Amino acid sequence: MSQRFTNKVVWVSGAAQGIGRGIAEYFAEAGAKVALIDIKKKEGSEVAESIRSGGGIAEFFFCDLNVEESIHSSIENTVKFFGDLHILVNNGAVNFVKDLHEYSSEEWDWQMSVNLKAIFLSFKYAYAHLRKHASSHIVNIGSVSSFVGQAKTPGYIAAKGAVIMLTKSIAIDYASEGIRCNAVCPGITDTPMLRAHMGNDVDIQERLQRVPGGRMLKPKEIAGSVAYLCCDDSAGVTGISLIVDGGYLATAEWKGIPAL
Ligand SMILES: NC(=O)c1ccc[n+]([C@@H]2O[C@H](COP(=O)([O-])OP(=O)(O)OC[C@H]3O[C@@H](n4cnc5c(N)ncnc54)[C@H](O)[C@@H]3O)[C@@H](O)[C@H]2O)c1
Repeated sequence: MSQRFTNKVVWVSGAAQGIGRGIAEYFAEAGAKVALIDIKKKEGSEVAESIRSGGGIAEFFFCDLNVEESIHSSIENTVKFFGDLHILVNNGAVNFVKDLHEYSSEEWDWQMSVNLKAIFLSFKYAYAHLRKHASSHIVNIGSVSSFVGQAKTPGYIAAKGAVIMLTKSIAIDYASEGIRCNAVCPGITDTPMLRAHMGNDVDIQERLQRVPGGRMLKPKEIAGSVAYLCCDDSAGVTGISLIVDGGYLATAEWKGIPAL
């Protein structure tokens, strides 16, 4: 892979596994210095170590996205360690399966805090560092659930819908300072979150029949779109939501390609 992110410092939340791990590995392979941010210390440290043993530059920083001071420290620790900050990838999230009337207030607040408020807070504390550069980038990970509903995950889809509008708001208000902000919205991607969700009576084969691509995406395929939005190839792009879903949202109904 070309070293197009050499000397760029990238903060990736939820990087201990799944899509976040794929994004961290992708940027490291492209020469970036990667701060892996997660609540899972052991797994996150192991991913950082595996990147380093492959010749990449990476460090794990503990962070609970539900705690403002923890987000603040993760940004400051990243800058202290790597000396700079160019790219924020807000990927960490939780998918809580429960009917709305059974939610407690605390459960609702937790969904909103990790999946939405953490984007505001990472921006709040990264802004002073990002604005120093002629161009810097934020990519927020939305979902196909930013656009269409999904059963029994009301807090998750409410937050994912809001991610798209917060992305536009940041894009509008900070474009004049060279900060671009976009969202990448994955479809069905093979990660621990998806597998846990499948454990909750979700029939993945049935759901895949509604995907023209016909298969689960891989974290690295999502990562490639994130990287596109963080380099000059997308210089004129800000405030968009790039859907990476194998065609899932392109059609209201899809039952697979009929047999010839
Ligand atoms: N997998 C899919 O099919 C899919 C589809 C659409 C969108 N997404 C989105 O992609 C992103 C990554 O999802 P994934 O499937 O890789 O999920 P995952 O559960 O496999 O990984 C999420 C990571 O976030 C971390 N995290 C959770 N709560 C945290 C907290 N409070 N503080 C710090 N870290 C925390 C977890 O420890 C984990 O490492 C999420 O934003 C998700 O909504 C995933």
